[in-house]
Formats: sequence, C-alpha cells, structure tokens
Amino acid sequence: MKRLLITRTLPEPVLQAACDAFEVALWPHDEPIGAQLLPWAKGCDGLLVMATDRLDAGTLQQLPPSVRAISTYSVGHDHIDLNAATQCGIPIFNTPDVLSDAVAETALLLILSAARDASAAEATLRSGHWGPWSPTRFLGQQLTGKRLGIYGMGRIGLGIAQRALAFGMLVEYHNRSVHPAASGFAYHATLESLMAHSDVFCVCAPSTPQTRGAINAERLALLPRGAVFVNIARGDLVDEDALIDAITTGHIGGTGLDVYRNEPTIDPRFLQLPRTTLLPHIGSATHEARNGMGRLAVDALKIFLLDGAHPPHCLNPDALAPRVVESTP
Ligand code: DGY
Repeated sequence: MKRLLITRTLPEPVLQAACDAFEVALWPHDEPIGAQLLPWAKGCDGLLVMATDRLDAGTLQQLPPSVRAISTYSVGHDHIDLNAATQCGIPIFNTPDVLSDAVAETALLLILSAARDASAAEATLRSGHWGPWSPTRFLGQQLTGKRLGIYGMGRIGLGIAQRALAFGMLVEYHNRSVHPAASGFAYHATLESLMAHSDVFCVCAPSTPQTRGAINAERLALLPRGAVFVNIARGDLVDEDALIDAITTGHIGGTGLDVYRNEPTIDPRFLQLPRTTLLPHIGSATHEARNGMGRLAVDALKIFLLDGAHPPHCLNPDALAPRVVESTP
C-alpha cells in the first residue's frame, strides 16, 4: 500500500477516503508540522499539506526520494516554490472551484459587516450598552447602487460579483486582461483606475511576486473617501501600515479582513480600529467546501500515485512530463 503523510487532521469523510486508499501517517497536533515535515515524510509516496506548511526550495530538495506527488489542501499556492517542485519532478495539485462559493459568501459577509459596522454594533449589544433605539446611532452605508471594485476577477471574484448584483451593486474589476466570463462588468486596465472608482473595494487576487504589496499607501489614497475595504485573498498583498493609517484617518470608512500578513499573529493595532470586522482566515470554512477540498486533494493523489494517470488541477504540469534519462552507450 502506498503511504501518505497528512499534515493536519481533516474532516472525517476526507480522512476516511484517504485511509481507504493509502496507509496514512497523520500529524496529530493542532499546529503546523513545521520542521517535522522532513522526518515525517520518510517512506511516504505522497504528501497532503496545508497552506500553513511552507515548502520552499530547500525543503522540497530535502524531501525523501520516495515522495512523488503533493496535494495542497488550498487553492492558494504561495506557500510552495513551484519552480523548485518542478525541478524535483514533484507535481503539485491544488483544490480550486470547490471553495469558490464559500469564499465568495465570506466576502459578502465582510462587505455587509464593514458597510454596516455590524461588529461594533454587536459588541455594543453584548457589552450591555445598547440603550434606547436611536435614529442616529449605528448608521452605516447602503450597498444599493454602489460600485464594487474587484481586484482579481477569477472564480471567486466572479462568485462575489454575481452575489453583489443581487444587492443592486455595480461591479467593476481589474485583472491583467479582460476575463471572458465577466463581459457584463466594467473592466479597468489599471489597478489605480479601479481603486479610484470603487465605493467598495475587494481584494481577490492571488499572492504572486507581482501582486505582493500592490495595495500600498499611494493606491489606498486613490479610493474615494469613506470607501469600504475588504480582503479575502492574502495579507501580503497589502501594506498593513498604510491600511491602518487609512482606516485611522477615516479615509477608509469600513474594513473587513479575513487575511493578514503574519497569520495567525495579527498586528495588535487592528484590534483597536473603528468600523472594522476581523475574521480569522475562515474564507473556505464550510463543511461543503472543506469536504470538497479534501475530496479533490485525495483524489489527485489516488489518480497520480495509484492509477498512474494525470489528475486535473496540477499547478506545475512540467513536473508531469516524462523525464529524459540520459543513458551512456
Ligand atoms: C485557500 O484555499 O487558499 C484558502 O485561503 C485556505 O487556505
């Protein structure tokens, strides 16, 4: 039986599917496996890792030669050096699509909460300071007719756009190029132009060398005063000092964050900011999405390691190409 290392406890049906197909080594602790990955990978044919497991070039090169494939239980893959994985001949599989609805719903949750300051209103109630009904307290922004700017129109961005239409919002977006499935939405050729036209701005782009730090002070200043800012993608796209400044001065009128630069450590200044809803990276945290992600991650390893076939959603298809072995005559 092929051996599979799983670096975190997974939902029961996913674990069962993995145990049915593989001899499973399960990292039992509720914290990332860290440096223990290498000793635990000994004798394993495949790895099923989390977005919290950093697979840089050094780690990939030190993996035991028995490891032939890796599934990441995430759509994001900024934690894995894909070039190094390709050089090591290790295909990396991820889990797109199945989490798009869950993450899009989280984006709407944050947009609504940030626009209405639901976090502060609930905290007021819980602390016993509700007071009499008031025409002037707890006033927020209505979404109807507002422009929603989506930075990164992929599967999740489209899901957010479709839901925002039901709230009467006008959707605009920026990508490197026009998205064929987003023809109904206004395209901005530059991020600057999108930000200057966004009453609600939502970061949905993946973390890449090109996007990291893209949301800086200069660009935040382009947002219309009082705009709502939401990030459900990755924290490292945003200069957090600049974001905190923009919230503190009131330039940003409502904020909803699911992701941060140094997760799970959060800049403590965020906790003191007004009109801010903070979630602990729960974008894909529904039973449906997490089971779907697990199914995809396990299936990919089964298809590749047990059936010898090529699964969908390979992030570095060059690693699947037959390798030319130089033979001496
Ligand atoms: C993803 O799948 O990339 C989510 O952010 C969970 O890590």
